Amino acid sequence: MVTLLSNTQQEMNIYPNAKQFRFMNSTTRHTAYGGARGGGKSWVIRIMAIMLASMYGAPDAWSAGIRICIIRRTLQDLTKNHLEALKLLTKGIAKYNANDKCFYFRNGAIIQFAYCDNDNDADHFQGIEYDIIFIEEATQLKEEWIKKIAASCRGVNEFPHRVFYTCNPGGPGHAYIKRLFVDRIFQGNEKPEDYSFIQAKVTDNKILQQYSPEYVNFLENLPPTIRKAWLEGDWNIFQGSYFPEFVNAPDHYEDGLWTHVIDPIPIRRNWTIYRGLDWGHYRPYSVGWFAINEFETMIHFKELYGCQKSGRESIPDMGVQWPPEQLFRTIREIEDNDPVLKGRKIIGVADPAIFKTQGGPSIADTAMDCGVYFQPGDNTRLAGWMQCRYRLQFNEYGRPRFQVFNTCTEFLRCMNLWMHDPKNVEDLDTTLEDHIADMWRYVCMANIVKALVEEPEYNPMWGMDPLNMFGGQGA
Ligand SMILES: Nc1ncnc2c1ncn2[C@@H]1O[C@H](COP(=O)(O)OP(=O)(O)OP(=O)(O)O)[C@@H](O)[C@H]1O
Ligand SMILES: [Mg+2]
Repeated sequence: MVTLLSNTQQEMNIYPNAKQFRFMNSTTRHTAYGGARGGGKSWVIRIMAIMLASMYGAPDAWSAGIRICIIRRTLQDLTKNHLEALKLLTKGIAKYNANDKCFYFRNGAIIQFAYCDNDNDADHFQGIEYDIIFIEEATQLKEEWIKKIAASCRGVNEFPHRVFYTCNPGGPGHAYIKRLFVDRIFQGNEKPEDYSFIQAKVTDNKILQQYSPEYVNFLENLPPTIRKAWLEGDWNIFQGSYFPEFVNAPDHYEDGLWTHVIDPIPIRRNWTIYRGLDWGHYRPYSVGWFAINEFETMIHFKELYGCQKSGRESIPDMGVQWPPEQLFRTIREIEDNDPVLKGRKIIGVADPAIFKTQGGPSIADTAMDCGVYFQPGDNTRLAGWMQCRYRLQFNEYGRPRFQVFNTCTEFLRCMNLWMHDPKNVEDLDTTLEDHIADMWRYVCMANIVKALVEEPEYNPMWGMDPLNMFGGQGA
């Protein structure tokens, strides 16, 4: 238990869990607390900031008190996560000034909010000095930004000078944080004794488990990659295959359960048909036909894939990239003659880049001239990959919401190639053969589904912030 005495002389008895306690007592210059979601990282940052501000006021009338900064990627994230709680916790001992985004403590200490969403924001930290810096969700920031922010942790005074990071696996800063704190691989002037790491687990936070067991249930039911990262706090998960949840189980073809790959089945006339396209000028194009059945299952039943370089024999004219007219005439021909597609209404969804005009007609105009129509696909990448993952989830009866015929051999070949981007670990590595993945993503984004288990609504009872403990207004 830690006791914090406010100016109103009300005593707050707060109970950090064991990991939070270790974080609070860390004496290394850089300390990271990370891993699973919901472990209590943001909570401990609030408490530490207030305790440090209360402890290190101005030593005399001519000096300032401790300067503390809490940083997140956006101000919106920061205010949502911390502002109200901090206002309540510092009632009577500090005043918040919205213009400066700063809490001014009566003893001369300050807690400043700051954000870093781009290179310009990061440059603003040059020349600024803070004694203590908390970088919340550090993996959401790029390595260069984190370094610039950490460089502003200095001051000519007797106060402690430390940088505290909280983080979940994933995000642009994943590789940097993992190297320093998890793998402990040091470069240049980085000294091992300056870095310490506390692994967070959701199970550390008994209060969350008690008040919101559905949150833990939600984490347990996420697609495997995200679950391993968010529930177990696994830092290695973003190194392997991009869709580990994809199951190709030939034994299960017959019943179509617990497998994503199936033998061809008849495509019924009442199912909605989509045609996806990803177009690359000097790279492969990918076309795929998908049916959505009455149970909202997406079935990928036909493909047309071209690649300039591969020279694979399985695909006609593979040695040379087709000009757009040739591709769209071929699509028209297929859709006029294929027994499944003939006479059907087909919804085309394509890479939005094909709608760009550069002096002449766009690729989409050329498609239209050949009688092939598309709507621009939604190219939001991470949300799109999440949709692909949601589609791969199996329900309790073993039914997934995406299946592919075993005749779509290019899709199946490429599925084995797709990996995480080592620099931007949540994303798929775009240096790989990813056109089929992009095409599939556009079609998924045109048919949004929800996760099988949804994230619970925020519950004000979660966690019982210390405000509640002295009969305050509730967290
Ligand atoms: N020691 C504690 N005492 C009381 N409540 C706590 C404690 N630790 C955490 N909580 C509460 O548990 C809930 C989850 O904690 P918190 O938001 O700090 O987790 P987090 O690790 O930051 O989660 P995320 O990874 O999603 O950012 C919050 O409601 C928080 O107030
Ligand atoms: Mg948090």
